[in-house]
Amino acid sequence: MSQEGIPPLSAYSEAALGKAFAELTSEVDESAKSISSDESIEQFRLHWLGRKQGRLKSISDAWLKSAPLEAKKLIGQRFNDLKNKIEGILAVSDSIPIRYSSGPVLPGVSLSYEPIHAKREQEFRARLDAEGIDITLPGTHRTLGAEHPLIKTMHEMVAVFQRMGYSVGVGPEVETDYYNFESLNFPPGHPARDTQDTLVVANQEGKPLRDRLLMRTHTSPVQIRTMEQQPPPVRIVIPGKVHRNDAADATHSPIFQQIEGLCVDTNITFSDLKGTLDHAMKEYFGSSVKTRFFPSFFPFTEPSADVQISCPFCGGKGCRKCKHSGWIELLGCGMVDPAVFGFVQGKQPAYDPKKISGFAFGMGVDRITMMKYGISDISLLYSGDARFLEQFA
Ligand code: DAH
Repeated sequence: MSQEGIPPLSAYSEAALGKAFAELTSEVDESAKSISSDESIEQFRLHWLGRKQGRLKSISDAWLKSAPLEAKKLIGQRFNDLKNKIEGILAVSDSIPIRYSSGPVLPGVSLSYEPIHAKREQEFRARLDAEGIDITLPGTHRTLGAEHPLIKTMHEMVAVFQRMGYSVGVGPEVETDYYNFESLNFPPGHPARDTQDTLVVANQEGKPLRDRLLMRTHTSPVQIRTMEQQPPPVRIVIPGKVHRNDAADATHSPIFQQIEGLCVDTNITFSDLKGTLDHAMKEYFGSSVKTRFFPSFFPFTEPSADVQISCPFCGGKGCRKCKHSGWIELLGCGMVDPAVFGFVQGKQPAYDPKKISGFAFGMGVDRITMMKYGISDISLLYSGDARFLEQFA
């Protein structure tokens, strides 16, 4: 045998092979104990796996070559096992700077690991220091976000209209006097402007009134913006934030949310308006809910109506939520005033009130949300208090 220290293989029985390989395995274990530095890892690798001089190569050359054919398979399998073991030891030593044992790694932390050797431990600590990692801290726990109740209501209500074929639009929150008021048939000085007390952007006195900027008081200006962009037919809902110069109290907030709706086509009648809203309310609140319409006034619709629904909580008998009336007022609506089409016609001549007609509606998302969840103070919806919001997660 040319290789130094290679034990001779006396027989090829299972027992003889088992014994020979058991000796090699303990030799591997023994030499693994010498691993204590980067250099010794390399030495271990060369000693066992070196391509030319490696012990595994020499032994397999010596044993396999002279073995009878039927023994080669048995020996080959055992060599593979041994090689896997050696590679396993190397993988562990290479990839992690510490290995199982006992004793603390960092002060106060007992991870049941022991540094393979002092140098690698030093490197490990230096890396932790450099990266500012304190492994004693609990990990960052990221909780899943949840929809804010207002957004949830908005999405649900918008989805009701989407199922009826409506598309969804948006518009700017900083709006001109023209879109917010004038084009919706609120001329300058019209008393209906007082019902929507405005927050105006400062220092615009130099501009003509129609161009002055304000925070939109309702989502209705997006009706005009939509019609300017496209000829009829239109079926659109517009959810969004609106602003009013209102003092905050339990039921008023200077910021709140609305959903606007607009439908324009040939032969749209008040029956279509009633049918659409009745269906939407039944979809949203349950099929037993009834609607009723009362005459009202909005400058941009004629006729106009306020809509009430029968209380979805008590079925109309009267309860706290409907203030014992059995009915809850939820939205405003009406047939689009021909004067509004008149404002659009300059840009889209197809909005000829003699040929087309339409209806519009607007609802307060906050009100619906408060009613649905029994929230008595609107400010809770804007406080950002996680204890309140978590209830809707
Ligand atoms: N814009 C109205 C408001 O904020 C709500 C409204 C009423 C919108 C009737 C409409 C409508 O489109 O037809 O008070």
